[in-house]
Amino acid sequence: MEETIIYNIGQLLGTSGTISKPLKGTDLQDLPYLKDAWIAMADGKIIAFGTEKELSKERLNKAFKVIDARGGLVAPAWCDSHTHLVFARSREEEFVMRIKGKSYEEIAAAGGGILNSANVLRNTPEEELIESAYKRLHEIISMGTGAVEIKSGYGLSTESELKMLRVIRALKEKSPIPIKSTFLGAHAVPHAYKSDPDKYVDLIINEMLPKVVDQGLADYIDVFCDRGFFTPEQTDRILEAGAKFGLKSKIHANELDYSGGIQIGVKHKAISVDHLEFTGEAEISALLSGETMPTLLPQTAFFLNIEYPPARKIIDAGLPVALASDYNPGSSPSGNMFFTIALACIHMKMLPEEAINAATINGAFAMELENEVGNIAVGKRANLWISEPVSSYNFLPYAFGRAPIKTTIINGRVHQNI
Ligand code: NIG
Ligand code: FE
Repeated sequence: MEETIIYNIGQLLGTSGTISKPLKGTDLQDLPYLKDAWIAMADGKIIAFGTEKELSKERLNKAFKVIDARGGLVAPAWCDSHTHLVFARSREEEFVMRIKGKSYEEIAAAGGGILNSANVLRNTPEEELIESAYKRLHEIISMGTGAVEIKSGYGLSTESELKMLRVIRALKEKSPIPIKSTFLGAHAVPHAYKSDPDKYVDLIINEMLPKVVDQGLADYIDVFCDRGFFTPEQTDRILEAGAKFGLKSKIHANELDYSGGIQIGVKHKAISVDHLEFTGEAEISALLSGETMPTLLPQTAFFLNIEYPPARKIIDAGLPVALASDYNPGSSPSGNMFFTIALACIHMKMLPEEAINAATINGAFAMELENEVGNIAVGKRANLWISEPVSSYNFLPYAFGRAPIKTTIINGRVHQNI
């Protein structure tokens, strides 16, 4: 067995062994680490780790490849459980409109936003979408992401939604990291259905969904359940239809209002409900009654300049939290999970330990990949990153705006950016 060893590690983070349930409440503060450590990998997996004095000269000499971490941290790669990284082009013109005073919802209501992205994507060839998304995938891997979920939702017609999902499938085939694919036909109501949105819901249920399932293109189903987008009743119908086909859900909820989305998600045993800027007592008690993961996307609140989700209230109620980037051209044009955790600490008062756990192991749970990625444990995929020499993991959210990575390791090998 050809072994790769990383040694001279200042802190090896997330050495928490088997974790069978998402970390919640005060357990989120528990981020075990080893000081002055090493880790060995082979066949793409973690095979051993320990403290420096337990590393024999013999093992080091026999290794196929040896990497000196020079006192840097080694951490499990980020598990980014919510992205829209397949898109045809960026939307900085809307960014400027917002600077001048228009809101995200006003721009969307005037045919911009998601509909704008859908118009461009419709006319963009599949190959081109694969190429640009593949670049973004490598961009996030080089910033330490080791597993990712990607949504459709810029198609909004049967043909274009299937095209987007095929792009995600092509990425899955080429990707060195695990990808989960989510069907988000219910991302926005297309212009042609504005006077009768239920007809679009019918199209999703009766035409899109059977094809998506038949072609095996989705792991999950999603709905943007919010003011001006889809109602709780419509969401209920779509999730019900998805469930009939065996699709579990991960939904957008309560970004723009107390939309009822959280309750609908919990009712349908959604894997996660995401955004949650508008979360009060009723939403927290709904979450406490189920197993659905509350997933927070602080980059979106930052970029749209809206209220941040009440992470403290959610965690202090004893719930788990996952953090994700929401990488997309409209509300979060960055997949830098270091920035995600910085915002979580600075604006949502999460402790560095909580933020790191929420962006790794809890993110893995939000993609049902907890047996494969998310922490440092023997048998897990060797997806991790080595930081520059820094004094402690508190530096990571503190040094906002940076991704202080020296090397990303994917499947036990040094990742080369494209
Ligand atoms: O997660 N909120 C809904 N969907 C995306 C934004 C998509 C867009 O504006 O293109 C989000 O923020
Ligand atoms: Fe999103």
